[in-house]
Amino acid sequence: MSLPFPILAAEEAAEMIQNGQSIGFSGFTAAGAAKAVPFALAQKARREHAAGRPFKVGVMTGASTGKSLDGALAEAEAISFRTPYQGNALLRKQINSGQVKFFDMHLSSVAQSVRYGALGKVHWAVVEACDITAGGGVVLSTSVGNSNTYMRLADKIIIELNARHPTSLLGMHDIFEPKDPPTRQEIPIFSASDRVGSPICIVDPKKIAGVVLTDLADESAGFDEATALTDRIGQNVADFLAAEMKLGRIPREFLPLQSGVGNIANAVLAALGQSRDIPAFEMYTEVLQDSVVPLLENGRCKFASTCSLTLSPEAMRKVTENLDYYKSRIIMRPQEITNNPEIVRRLGIVSMNTAIEVDLGGNVNSTHVMGKTMMNGIGGSGDFTRNAYLSIFSCPSTAKGGMISAIVPVASHMDHSEHSVQIIVTEQGVADLRGKDPHERALLIIEKCAHPDYKEQLRDYLKLVGPGSHEPMSLSLGFAMHRQFLRHGDMRQINWDEYR
Ligand code: COA
Repeated sequence: MSLPFPILAAEEAAEMIQNGQSIGFSGFTAAGAAKAVPFALAQKARREHAAGRPFKVGVMTGASTGKSLDGALAEAEAISFRTPYQGNALLRKQINSGQVKFFDMHLSSVAQSVRYGALGKVHWAVVEACDITAGGGVVLSTSVGNSNTYMRLADKIIIELNARHPTSLLGMHDIFEPKDPPTRQEIPIFSASDRVGSPICIVDPKKIAGVVLTDLADESAGFDEATALTDRIGQNVADFLAAEMKLGRIPREFLPLQSGVGNIANAVLAALGQSRDIPAFEMYTEVLQDSVVPLLENGRCKFASTCSLTLSPEAMRKVTENLDYYKSRIIMRPQEITNNPEIVRRLGIVSMNTAIEVDLGGNVNSTHVMGKTMMNGIGGSGDFTRNAYLSIFSCPSTAKGGMISAIVPVASHMDHSEHSVQIIVTEQGVADLRGKDPHERALLIIEKCAHPDYKEQLRDYLKLVGPGSHEPMSLSLGFAMHRQFLRHGDMRQINWDEYR
């Protein structure tokens, strides 16, 4: 292949990046994440640190990434700030200890914030591609994320040209970047499969500082096997949606589904796919996880619009071996479009995300354990939840072997407010909060969703609060179950008097 750009070793590319600079990396989950250059950058950081010189960079991505990006840079202590989402254990530790600044952002609004300069300058875009033309046409690989925006705004671009991804991915992407207000117009997507943009990113070839040739698989970890518990959660979601259809509140052709990240979301989608009461559906979502591949194969999922192919190596092999089939059924778009509130509202999306905890008012915490320890970030859950036709949150009713109740009097951190959250699902059942006042909601959540070990003490909380207020809120007892866990390592068998 003859390209008018310097072909660089990853180490040479990393050498060009300086301490204090900010980098917009490709990657939405580990799918399509830059790998060789961040890994080499981490080695450079170690060398600089060993020589007594500071070396840290600002890291902006689509969402979480793989071990060669967040993992390697965290190990080298080379990250100054990180946005908008992450899922790496060591980086999580560094964020929670205050070593790394982390801006937890709605994924749909990152590109706009970067365009307006709210996150500072983008010195470099480091983007994985499966093909590139001499004129600056870049065919992205297994995700889009914010790569189109980072490449347009960055001073300089480094392309990781990854031979592992077939060039025939060309045609799977749909790149569209809205104008900024006041000249913004509608995004003309009226169904999940509408194409509105270009199959390639077109960048200024003069900005391409070099191309690094790689042959590296995406570092997606895969998912836990479904369990009886996740199957029950999935079945509860399926039964609820089937009943909504029977009541005429979901049309017979169904509505597009959005499904969140992680094991629970993966299992919920698998259960929906198996349900005989749910018709074949489309997805308008931000991640396409393993469970969707068989559903696309057997026609249960008719079409998927997504930002990434977050697939285990086996599932990815299936897709690449039969690429023409999947290309007619999958579109990958920038996260500014997959998660765009305008489209979520227009398409009437049914959003299905996972909670860490839910409180009796219906407020959801998706991000912070015990109110202060960051798990991953809000991701796209807020983009979808606020604007969905139906917003569903599911989770197991307990965590950590039953010692923590996911249903608590007051959430220790709030990502999604009672005004946006409509349906709560656990393995115990479904609480439909629509049309209920705060006291009715609280009772419903306890009776339908709380674990039997916690029902009585949550009822006791309501009794202690008593009637006579709009919200069943006690400022002194609201966090008593959290405090009980911190004191005794178990939220059960609380003595409410201990916390008055
Ligand atoms: N208290 C303490 N820990 C809790 C908890 C609670 N109330 N609820 C869950 N956890 C822990 C689990 O024990 C598990 O810990 P481990 O990794 O040590 O085993 C971890 O959180 C993940 O929980 P799991 O049950 O495996 O669920 P998951 O993989 O489906 O992840 C979220 C759940 C909430 C962390 C994940 O969905 C997330 O980050 N969501 C926010 C972003 C989002 O929704 N994006 C989608 C938009 S499209």
